[in-house]
Formats: sequence, structure tokens, C-alpha cells
Amino acid sequence: MSKEVECTYEEGPLGRRIIVPKGLYNVIVDTTEISGVDPTGKATIYRGGYTIDDIGANADFYEAAFLLHYGHLPNEDEYKEYKKKLDSYRTQIPAKLIDALKLVPATHPMYYAQFAYNLLGQFFAPEWPQKANFEFLEEHAMRLIALTPFIFAAAWHLPRDGNLYMPDPSLPHAKDALRMILGREPSDLEARAFEATLVLYMDHGFNASTFTVRVSASTLTDIYSAAAAGVASLKGPLHGGANEQAMAMLLEAKKQADAKGVPLDQYIEEYIVEKLKRKELIMGFGHRVYKIHDPRTDVARKFVQQLKDGDMWVKVLTKAEEVMQREKKLPANIDLYTGVLYYQLGIPIPMYTPIFAMGRIVGWTAHYIEQFLNNKLIRPDEKYVGPTGLKYVPMSQRSRK
Ligand SMILES: CC(C)(COP(=O)(O)OP(=O)(O)OC[C@H]1O[C@@H](n2cnc3c(N)ncnc32)[C@H](O)[C@@H]1OP(=O)(O)O)[C@@H](O)C(=O)NCCC(=O)NCCS
Repeated sequence: MSKEVECTYEEGPLGRRIIVPKGLYNVIVDTTEISGVDPTGKATIYRGGYTIDDIGANADFYEAAFLLHYGHLPNEDEYKEYKKKLDSYRTQIPAKLIDALKLVPATHPMYYAQFAYNLLGQFFAPEWPQKANFEFLEEHAMRLIALTPFIFAAAWHLPRDGNLYMPDPSLPHAKDALRMILGREPSDLEARAFEATLVLYMDHGFNASTFTVRVSASTLTDIYSAAAAGVASLKGPLHGGANEQAMAMLLEAKKQADAKGVPLDQYIEEYIVEKLKRKELIMGFGHRVYKIHDPRTDVARKFVQQLKDGDMWVKVLTKAEEVMQREKKLPANIDLYTGVLYYQLGIPIPMYTPIFAMGRIVGWTAHYIEQFLNNKLIRPDEKYVGPTGLKYVPMSQRSRK
């Protein structure tokens, strides 16, 4: 259950001010039509009124992206037109972007995307208007959505194996994204499992990176810069970085289990309990809003079951969930499941958070547009708690200590 955290008030020089809980815990800061996270996990909504697990299990990338941006599932004509446009943007890559990408060292691909998004902004929208209509904003949103997989695949391959996988618009967006990551064409099952995770990641209320994007949009900065800010926020281990950390943790547990000659599903309990004793976080568990269940795990689990070593992984994850429920009353979150799913697909771990971004860019851009079209600068007050009353002292008169 959510902790009871109350707002308090104080009288300021210009009237009463609200003091909200640290981390904006349990605070509603605005309305949105794009998605809503239900703390019980039963009714987390994607735009238009669908539950996230329904869309995650059934919609393809184009349908879900269209839904989040236009508010309804596309009919056949709308689908074809949207797909055609998005696919055409996948190949409109400025040559100078590729030249620039070749210079970047083999660091985490999330660094690379911030740089690439900023470059895209300079190519496609060097001047950003203070007023714009939906069509203008949507065009730039689609460019970002279309090019994100290419950028991350280049970020991974170019500085490591020198390969540059160009988009193949004859393949659907998600399957082609996985092809560029793996350097081989995936099977239909692999592509579908991967696509479902992109759809599940697309949006999730005012999560940290989406809120970062909305704060950026509220200053009327351009959509590319706002998306780069979203990437910066998503990169952190308490947010998108958790899928990488969750898998790294499971692999560490597996190494220890192998050394002891015990199957992982039998060892995982001891591993988690020991970590908890050391007061360490178990990555892939807990959530700011979900305190009972994350419905996205139900869809992801079905795909984990069908992929390589699926039975083994489901046993391990089920056991880990049992232990965390017993010890901390914390549910698994989607990152635990996608971490395993991407591992089953043979994707290198530093690409897991970038894949999260390939989905979430759809939500970021939808939120950017919603904020931009109905804007109010997001700028909270603060309560200064440091000393006051000092006067400037020239350097020569300052004490050395
Ligand atoms: C996601 C997260 C940041 C949410 O944080 P939060 O809303 O501030 O967490 P809560 O207030 O619900 O935490 C309640 C308690 O459980 C603990 N806790 C939360 N997640 C935990 C985890 N994954 N492992 C161990 N303990 C955890 C907290 O330390 C806190 O303990 P305390 O009451 O003794 O201080 C947190 O659960 C976390 O760090 N999880 C691991 C990272 C992760 O998987 N992130 C992806 C989120 S989709």
C-alpha cells in the first residue's frame, strides 16, 4: 500500500504555499489523456481507455504509437498512411549525423542518444517556434520515433565492430530495430516478443523521464532537446537503467549458483535474502506507483516463457517474486522481465535501456505535444534551509580554513 504522506502548508510573504512530499510521492501535478497508472495494477490505461496489458498483448508498434498520439486505434486507411510516413522517416537520415556518430567512443549508448537527438534538432528544426499546431509537432515526433532504433544500433555497433546497419523499411519498425541491434534478421517470435516490450514501455503516466520531458516542453524548448533530456533521466538505475541492472544481478546469481552446482531457481532465494541482509536493492522490484502488481509483467512473462530456456527463467523469476513478496512485500516490475527477455534474444546488456527508450520515445513525444499545446511553465518553489545574513568578503580577507 502507498505510504500516507500528507501535504503541509506554510505562510509565505505573498500568501499560503503548499509543501509536497519529497520526491513528489503520491502527488498529482497535472491531468493527461495519454495514459494513467493504476496503483493496484488492474486498470493502467493507454489513451482512449484501453488497459496497457490489452494493448501490450495485441497491438503492433504502429497501432500503439498511433493510439498514444491520436487518441484512437487507427482504422485500416489511417494505419497504412501512418506506417508509410513513419517508414519513410526511418530512412531520412542526415549524412552529417552518420559522420558525427562515427566519432563517438564506445561509451554507453544512452550518452550517444542525447548527442544524436540534439544533432537531429539542429538538422530538422534549427528554429523552434513558440506557437505550433499539432501537425507540425507530430511530424517532428515521428522523426524522433522513426530514427531512435537506428541511432542506438549505430551507437552500439559503430564504435565496437564498425558495422553501420541502415534501416530496412521493407521490415516493420520493431522487427527492423531488432535486426539492427542483433546484426541478423530475427524470427517472427523474437520480433513479436521484442515488439510487445516496446509497446509496454511506450508510456506510463508521469514517470521520471516523461516528467523531465514535460518540464522541458513547458519552457517551449524544441522536441529534440526535450527528448534528449528524457534520455538523460531514463539512463539512471532507478528508472530505465533497472532492466540492465536486473539482468546483471541475475547473471551474478547464476554464476554463484553454477559455482555451487545448484540450479538458479533453487539458489535465487538465498541470493536475494543475503542481498537484503546487506540492505542492497533488488533491481527489477518495487515501483513508485505499483505497490501490489505491475500488469506489464503478465504480458512479458508469456513471451519469456516461449523464448530460449523459458521454463527455467520463469521458475527463477517466480521464485524471486515469492521471496520479495515474503521479505519486502514488493512486486516485480517490468524491468525484471524485459531484462531476461532481452537476454534470451541475445541482446548485449548495455542495449536494454536504449530499447526502453525506443518504446518510451512514443510517450515522451506525445507528452511533449500535450504540454506544448496547453502550456504552463512548470516551475515549483523551494524552501531554502541554509544560513542567511552573510556579506561578501574579498578573497584576500577570507580565512584559509
Ligand atoms: C522503483 C523505486 C525507486 C521506487 O522507490 P520508492 O517509491 O521511493 O520506494 P518505496 O517507498 O516504495 O520503498 C519502500 C521500502 O522498500 C524498499 N525498497 C524499494 N524497492 C526495493 C528494492 N528493489 N529492493 C529492496 N528494497 C526496496 C525501500 O528501501 C523502502 O524501504 P524502507 O521503508 O525501509 O526505507 C524502488 O523500488 C527501487 O529502487 N527499485 C529498484 C530499481 C528498479 O527496479 N527500478 C525500476 C522501476 S520501474
